[in-house]
Amino acid sequence: MEIIITKDSEEMSDKAAEIVIAQIKAKPDTVLGLATGSTPEGLYARMVRAHKEDGLDFSSVVTFNLDEYVDLAPDHEQSYRSFMNRHLFDHINVNKENTHVPDGLATDLGEFCRRYEQMICEAGGIDIQVLGIGRDGHLGFNEPGSSLASLTQVVTLAPETIEDNSRFFQSEEEVPRFAVTMGIQSILNARKCLMLASGRGKAEVVKGCVEGPITAMVTASALQMHTDAVVILDEEAASMLDRIDYYRWAQEARQQVADRL
Ligand code: GLP
Repeated sequence: MEIIITKDSEEMSDKAAEIVIAQIKAKPDTVLGLATGSTPEGLYARMVRAHKEDGLDFSSVVTFNLDEYVDLAPDHEQSYRSFMNRHLFDHINVNKENTHVPDGLATDLGEFCRRYEQMICEAGGIDIQVLGIGRDGHLGFNEPGSSLASLTQVVTLAPETIEDNSRFFQSEEEVPRFAVTMGIQSILNARKCLMLASGRGKAEVVKGCVEGPITAMVTASALQMHTDAVVILDEEAASMLDRIDYYRWAQEARQQVADRL
């Protein structure tokens, strides 16, 4: 795991945008794995700016989102499809047909999950997967106890996730109980994983993810098994890491050999 510690969430988003934009420039038909939540909003704003101000071309980019609520229509304000349109897709020249968000309305959800995996495979696999982390350590919606070998699946949301996400709905009762999410193995299949976290509220779970044992109780800890996982944190999210001095030192040292890496 490469740990990058930044001053604040603005700098975290700058660094993430640098990596994603470089990837799209190097490979215009990049397959992007995308996440929702407030954490990647700054990254998406920078991608939009790169398109509007510097002409970054998304016309050949293909995207796959991590997850979607079950039984929330795509045009519902809080669906992840709406979120992605609002924060990214409506403002760049991506072909909407190339943007994929799991279908939470599918009547046969099991069959849909298998098809989603196949679609990712047929697109050539994900080049870079953007990730946030839930307070209970989830990636996508892979709650504690989800198999680390899981592929796209239907999950029951944990009470703490429902509570956290209720801020986007009128009440907690309105938050869907189920979601379709790429599994942990689907995420690990991406060629590169880019996890972002900011704020003190994420410090404990970030410690579990980066320095704790690999366990289905913190599904994000599976990133320790990925050969190209980059974790970008702000100071608050990094504040509980035991080896913080080493990560800072390594970060600086890497810059000196950046052109050889
Ligand atoms: C939701 C999403 C996750 C996201 C998490 C954290 O549960 N399914 O993909 O990482 O929220 O959200 P936030 O970035 O708002 O803290």
